Amino acid sequence: IVWLWKPLIATSLIVAVSLFVVMVNYSEKPYILLQPVFGQTFSSHWMFSKQPYKAFKPHLGYVSIPKQEPLKLHCELCSIVSSSGQMLGQGAGPQIDRSPCIWRMNNAPTRGFEHDVGRQTTLRVVSHTSVPLLLQKPQYFFGQGNDTIYVVWGPLRNMRKDGKGIVYNMLRQAAENYPHARIYVTTEDRMNYCDMVFKKETGKDRIQSGSYLSTGWFTLILAMDMCKEIHIYGMINDTYCKTEGYRKVPYHYYEAGSRDECAEYLLHESAPYGGHRFITEKSVFAKWAKTHAIKFFNPPWQLS
Ligand SMILES: *[C@@H]1O[C@H](CO)[C@@H](O)[C@H](O)[C@H]1NC(C)=O
Ligand SMILES: *[C@@H]1O[C@H](CO)[C@@H](O)[C@H](O)[C@H]1NC(C)=O
Repeated sequence: IVWLWKPLIATSLIVAVSLFVVMVNYSEKPYILLQPVFGQTFSSHWMFSKQPYKAFKPHLGYVSIPKQEPLKLHCELCSIVSSSGQMLGQGAGPQIDRSPCIWRMNNAPTRGFEHDVGRQTTLRVVSHTSVPLLLQKPQYFFGQGNDTIYVVWGPLRNMRKDGKGIVYNMLRQAAENYPHARIYVTTEDRMNYCDMVFKKETGKDRIQSGSYLSTGWFTLILAMDMCKEIHIYGMINDTYCKTEGYRKVPYHYYEAGSRDECAEYLLHESAPYGGHRFITEKSVFAKWAKTHAIKFFNPPWQLS
């Protein structure tokens, strides 16, 4: 009897091992696929898409709710509209609306600001902290007829999918109430990747330095993968706030009378913890603009 079992055990073992190998291969597939998206190697130009441009490549770093499908997107020209008070009084709206893809951040409104920020919205990158603001006007943001893509970023504790992620739960509810809404969340791997990019570019560990990445940071990283050309409106450069006679504007164009943008930036830059390193981030953006088709408008950046 015993000898009869031996081949059976051996066979089961072989089957189990093969299954395991198949599974490992399968689960590693995303990383192989992600390679071209994330850049070939971590050499000096590691981030930039020198490789041939593929239309509508699925991006596994962003998955839909509830289906968990990767984000498929491609655009020849993305205009990114910042939420800064710099948008005010520049009349950039018509120019923005002429670009094929228009990206905004968080709950930045268009209504009432059309002349300066435009009317169209293709995609919004949304911080986990802004999700409750969107949900105050769910019909406006997620209602039928609105095909804006929402890409939400946030830390695992709020975005976990096991029922304990408070923001993820809100989004799942919204997706249930508005089945046509196109809501995507940034995966844990992608969040770690964005942290890693910060460390790579600044030499500082994001967590140890007590800072949070900004929505602008996540927006630019996504745009560099999805847009052939990027136009950024209303973003100041890293020396703007040290420039004599700079234009004082509200931090957000839709929050008149709030703290001045530069005051807010300086506060964040020096906060021992919980701040956004906006100024540091801008110096990294300037570096990226040297190897990627990124242009800055209102105010313009002189990139050498
Ligand atoms: C969709 O959103 C835009 C602003 O992003 C808004 O102007 C428009 O009214 C919305 N459409 C619907 C049907 O809610
Ligand atoms: C940064 O902004 C200031 C103020 O707009 C400008 O004077 C300066 O030339 C800019 N620097 C670069 C590198 O664009």
